Amino acid sequence: MTCRVVVLISGRGSNLRAIVEAGLPIEIAAVVSNRPQAAGLDYARARGIPAIALDHTSSPDRATFDTQLAGEIERFHPDLVVLAGYMRILSPAFIARFEGRLLNIHPSLLPMFPGLDTHTRALAEGVKVHGCTVHFVTDKLDHGPIIIQAAVPVRADDTPDTLAARVLAQEHRIYPLAIRWFAEGRLVNNHGRVNLKGDPTSQSVLANGG
Ligand code: GRF
Repeated sequence: MTCRVVVLISGRGSNLRAIVEAGLPIEIAAVVSNRPQAAGLDYARARGIPAIALDHTSSPDRATFDTQLAGEIERFHPDLVVLAGYMRILSPAFIARFEGRLLNIHPSLLPMFPGLDTHTRALAEGVKVHGCTVHFVTDKLDHGPIIIQAAVPVRADDTPDTLAARVLAQEHRIYPLAIRWFAEGRLVNNHGRVNLKGDPTSQSVLANGG
């Protein structure tokens, strides 16, 4: 049975694009954005994927919006819900409803730099290695079980933008991979540590191809 995926976005949707173009054994059942102007919605529509805008600014509070969002998602009967640049904190009730089938990508090597402005903070700390993480979402923000990480070097002349671009290229590698593993039923959550079934493939990726 094909894994049905709903992707949540808020903006340009480059991760959405990487996922669509990876030729995964999945069906992207819908793309939902909390921002009607998100460029990723146009991309989805152009590909014939149902694209839904649910403007969070027209909801009185987060709980109301998230209930509406969950209802919209459920219409597509997803096996997996993927946060791909979805820039809103989700309510505990929403997370509980989808826990175990809810993934996020975060632009840092978690547990370092949860939250916003990760590239600026990484540069300010002087770290020499930075990266990105795909993880299961739990109610602790940016702290769920880690599926895969990719690391990139930090260069002396990096700006937040150059570093973000280097990390983003790796996001586009690891998110499709994590979704493939999920779709193939190969992710085993062992007390918060995620193991990959049936293959010695490493769950870490280095920018230079490691
Ligand atoms: C990515 O860097 C993602 O890690 C972060 O927001 C950005 C979204 O980019 N959460 P895009 O919309 O997928 O291009």
